[in-house]
Amino acid sequence: MVEFAFHFPSGFLWGTATSSHQVEGDNTNNDWWRWEQEPGRIRDGSRSGRACDWWRNAEADFDRAAAMGQNAHRLSIEWSRIEPREGVFDDAALDRYREMLRGLRERGIEPMVTLHHFTNPLWLAEQGGWENPLTVERFERYVRHAVGALKDFCRLWCTINEPNVLAYMGWNEGKWPPGKRDFGLSMQVLRHLMQAHARAYHAIHEIQPEAQVGIAHNMVVFEPAHPASPLDRMIARLHDRMFNRLVLDAMAAGREPGLAAFRTLAALRGTYDFIGLNYYTRRLSAFDRRSPATLFGRTFLNPHGELSDGEYGEVFPEGLYLLLKRLARYGKPIYVTENGIPDADDDQRPRFLVRHLHAMWRAIQQNVPVRGYFHWSLVDNFEWAEGWTLRFGLIEVDPETQARRPRRSADLYAEVCRANALTSETIIRHTPELLEEMFGISIG
Ligand code: BGC
Repeated sequence: MVEFAFHFPSGFLWGTATSSHQVEGDNTNNDWWRWEQEPGRIRDGSRSGRACDWWRNAEADFDRAAAMGQNAHRLSIEWSRIEPREGVFDDAALDRYREMLRGLRERGIEPMVTLHHFTNPLWLAEQGGWENPLTVERFERYVRHAVGALKDFCRLWCTINEPNVLAYMGWNEGKWPPGKRDFGLSMQVLRHLMQAHARAYHAIHEIQPEAQVGIAHNMVVFEPAHPASPLDRMIARLHDRMFNRLVLDAMAAGREPGLAAFRTLAALRGTYDFIGLNYYTRRLSAFDRRSPATLFGRTFLNPHGELSDGEYGEVFPEGLYLLLKRLARYGKPIYVTENGIPDADDDQRPRFLVRHLHAMWRAIQQNVPVRGYFHWSLVDNFEWAEGWTLRFGLIEVDPETQARRPRRSADLYAEVCRANALTSETIIRHTPELLEEMFGISIG
């Protein structure tokens, strides 16, 4: 019988990722809660509601993560709980977060804390949220407070989750609050988010010099729909630049994101100790003369690819390898801060996991400094405008009864975490067909 293993570096972090609004429940004081109450905003009309009940009892799921051999977890803290009214900080909320972070550490799980994951306190949203330049200072004030209170339990910080996605969904697509469609405004929002990131970066280092601070950046592989078409190639490059590169260039070169004339902002340069990569899919880009509002381009999923539930994305593991190789150029440690698939019946996730973990392993073999992997997600949770229709959890959750049921993939992932390796045993047990498909080994 064949036996082989793809080993990961010692000390590698294996975990899952979540965000406050998606798992805590009863986050009534933020812009997303308000958005959920408006008819037609959420695909299935559902609401975050009790979510996964983490505010009361995250610990039950921490136990499950620990039992799976996970040694890290990425979670976010909720600004609207910590600063429920402008300038008023809630010590009880910070105590609860301290308790959660301590609970993770006691279980041998290293926390990575995201300070902003899409949601905003209502009072902030009412003042214009990220359109308002004053939000930059307000974010810094909140960050100082939160980091000061939590620093004994956390050394890995993500300032802002996916500034590009937030700006795009809220101000371009208009599917997330505040539901606008205005390209100029979306760029302004992106600039404010990056300014806020820079402020947070410096503030955290002032409070906790040994902290490791980065951003969780969503990247999509854009490829021309027709590779022979120069216009499609141009649009694919444009999409790559706007979605993938603006944020990275902002941090690397200290350049404010914008279409053309960039302003340099020295305080932004080098504001990352690591890069967090959130990777889900590839999209095809095509020139479209009928869409001036989207800069004459449109993107869509490869109709010949393997698509996930709800046509959320194409399964494209090679993309993880390509993006990691590309990020190596920045010379900083890299964490895969999110990677996952909506797959309620778990008929795709086992293969998804094996193929993506192998892609990551290949990048590491080529000296890409990947330090950890956080699967999205530990448990099914409230998937924003898709409500409860998309199930990303290794563990299934019934939001009504709060019952949990581990999916098959949970066992697969646990084996990887415990072994710090992807072994032939695991592949044979969970995805035997991949032996032949990926490695040309036939088991007869
Ligand atoms: C976000 C998560 C979201 C996930 C799946 C990421 O872009 O950070 O909040 O649930 O994608 O869509």
